[in-house]
Amino acid sequence: MYFFVSLKPLWKSFIKNMSDDITVRVFRPEDSKQVKKIFVDGMNWIMPTYPNTILRAIQYHSPIVYTSVFIVLLTLYSQITYYFTQSIALSTILSVIYLLISVLIYSAVIYLYCHKMKDDFVALSLGADLKDIHEYYNKGVNRFWVAIDDRTGEVVGCVGILEKDKDVLELKRMSVRSDMRRRGVGVKLMEALEAYCVGKCKKIGLGTSILQPPAMTLYRKRGFTLKGTQYVSWFVPIYFLWFEKEM
Ligand SMILES: CC(C)(COP(=O)(O)OP(=O)(O)OC[C@H]1O[C@@H](n2cnc3c(N)ncnc32)[C@H](O)[C@@H]1OP(=O)(O)O)[C@@H](O)C(=O)NCCC(=O)NCCS
Repeated sequence: MYFFVSLKPLWKSFIKNMSDDITVRVFRPEDSKQVKKIFVDGMNWIMPTYPNTILRAIQYHSPIVYTSVFIVLLTLYSQITYYFTQSIALSTILSVIYLLISVLIYSAVIYLYCHKMKDDFVALSLGADLKDIHEYYNKGVNRFWVAIDDRTGEVVGCVGILEKDKDVLELKRMSVRSDMRRRGVGVKLMEALEAYCVGKCKKIGLGTSILQPPAMTLYRKRGFTLKGTQYVSWFVPIYFLWFEKEM
């Protein structure tokens, strides 16, 4: 036990040192293909699994709401099944089965809805600022950075900044290649971005969602605070978050 405990800081420092091989530089047109791949993979990675979707859906509404819905559905199903079977035992069993099926259908709808939302977001992004990154992020104060693995020369992460309004710059497209995560690449990108923003805005803002807990932790750690939430709808257990950091 002591062996593993004493190994942990060693392991941590080894992994952290790997970020010494990372250089952050401004985007070049030849990075485009790798950036798009990292962005799309990052978005695919955030999707919850089906069991996770059920858990989220159940946690989303307060226990009073889903207990009431369960009771209403159970009563309804038992009335209908009793009408057809004239048996209390059979109608009880059937009602519970129908209730379980309803939960599965609800979570399947949410699961598919999340996937559609993600696919729409990816398509929208690839057709907007990511279509021609160089052109889009070279206007005014807008900028785009990539993290390069010095050992291979490959792009392993990206982030951009866009002018939202006179006082606010918005962080966009933060993503790190999945095999390079938890090695400080995200922090390096944030450091470059924040250093650039000094003197150019009053606040940095960014939008994320509850599907991205690693990103939320990273932003909070960098001093961003939650300023607003927006629910997708009362039916879908997903909401968007808006974070800001004063400069
Ligand atoms: C969010 C993301 C960019 C973080 O990149 P990263 O290179 O792994 O981040 P870092 O290694 O610099 O981590 C910095 C801190 O963030 C937090 N963090 C990062 N990943 C985390 C995880 N999986 N779980 C918990 N905390 C995490 C930790 O506090 C970490 O510090 P620590 O390692 O000292 O504990 C990366 O997970 C990613 O690309 N996710 C998919 C795309 C995405 O969600 N983008 C955000 C769009 S808004």
